[in-house]
Amino acid sequence: MLSGKRILLIIAGGIAAYKAIELIRRLRERGAAVRCILTKAGAEFVTPLSLSAVSGDKVYGELFSLTDEAEMGHIQLSRDADLLVVVPATADILARMAAGLANDLATTALLATDKPVLVAPAMNVRMWLHPATQRNIQQLQSDGVRFVGPAEGDMACGEYGPGRMSEPAEILGAIEGFFTAGSNGLRALVTSGPTHEAIDPVRFIANRSSGKQGHAIAAAFAARGFATTLVSGPTHEPRPQGVKFVGVESARDMLAACEAALPVDVVVCAAAVADWRVAVEANQKLKKEKGKPLPVLTLAENPDILATIAGLKRGRPRLVVGFAAETERVVEHARAKLARKGCDWIVANDVSPGTGTFGGTNNTVHLISADRTEAWPQATKEQVGQRLVARIVEALA
Ligand code: PMT
Repeated sequence: MLSGKRILLIIAGGIAAYKAIELIRRLRERGAAVRCILTKAGAEFVTPLSLSAVSGDKVYGELFSLTDEAEMGHIQLSRDADLLVVVPATADILARMAAGLANDLATTALLATDKPVLVAPAMNVRMWLHPATQRNIQQLQSDGVRFVGPAEGDMACGEYGPGRMSEPAEILGAIEGFFTAGSNGLRALVTSGPTHEAIDPVRFIANRSSGKQGHAIAAAFAARGFATTLVSGPTHEPRPQGVKFVGVESARDMLAACEAALPVDVVVCAAAVADWRVAVEANQKLKKEKGKPLPVLTLAENPDILATIAGLKRGRPRLVVGFAAETERVVEHARAKLARKGCDWIVANDVSPGTGTFGGTNNTVHLISADRTEAWPQATKEQVGQRLVARIVEALA
């Protein structure tokens, strides 16, 4: 899959730098050529000799090196790659990237490149959560830098939380996802997460969807080579790699974003869209006033995104897949929903209290079409996404 791809790996100074060795090994096994830039701080954790041995190439470190510049100028170094990957992406290098600094070879290459950049952050949990780091991340995301991780877990410093660098296998998956996205010539649209329906400037109607299931489906599409658009309501889920992400708030925003993403070959509506919104959103915060009657919220029906797309006369996707969140008589209700919404397949999941489907890591589903019902065993949401996308690939073939 990575045959002939050229990766410029930038290794910065963090305890997770040792994982770069394993990553290089796996990248080369898959046919990628890896060239390394090792920062001064990175060289405190891994040696140029070991990186050179696993990458089979010279390791670059100095910005002002006569021999390096003669062989391969720093501009050429960054332009020569298909993808730049920063592992570990420390708080320091992320800050320098966000500020556009070029005070060593690594940041100069990152500033000089016209190629995509993927970073795998790794730092102490407090550093990750610090507003300065979060500000830098936002800046980098809006500059188009892609992120893999960080993961949550025990840290080398003895603390627990987000900040652990993703494992080499996950970083490799992100790199492969980057190269495969869009490679099969098919386009997919996925909705995910809840919608927020404003009551006034500070209050809203929402639900417990975390976006885990929808995001996992989008990641599975990208990994299978679909050009994928993920339209998501507000969630804390990391954005999947290789996916065009469109963040929205309300059902009406979600419909507009989905319509803008058409035409596609397949749509999967996994979002938990609010069925109703407040008919008239107050433009000032509703006041709680003693002796006054309680405010009455009159509801209006939201547009149905799934039914709208399924009912398109022109430009209807070849396959329209909905989800049905049910708390009783799951299959029966889901089958009725399949007919009512006019979609081709519906994935029924039990969301009754105790199942942990909303927000949880697992899901137990039935895949329902006009003439079949399949019960799938309990699986992680990633596995459900991969199995669903595998079935979609067969159906579109
Ligand atoms: O996000 P997670 O925490 O991972 O949880 C996953 C999930 C439970 C939210 C997901 O697997 C799921 O079941 N999503 C659909 C939830 C839902 O709103 O179901 P519904 O039965 O109300 O809607 C049926 C279908 O119509 C869904 O495809 C929904 O996206 C779609 N719909 C509903 C209302 C609306 N106004 N527009 C829609 O497109």
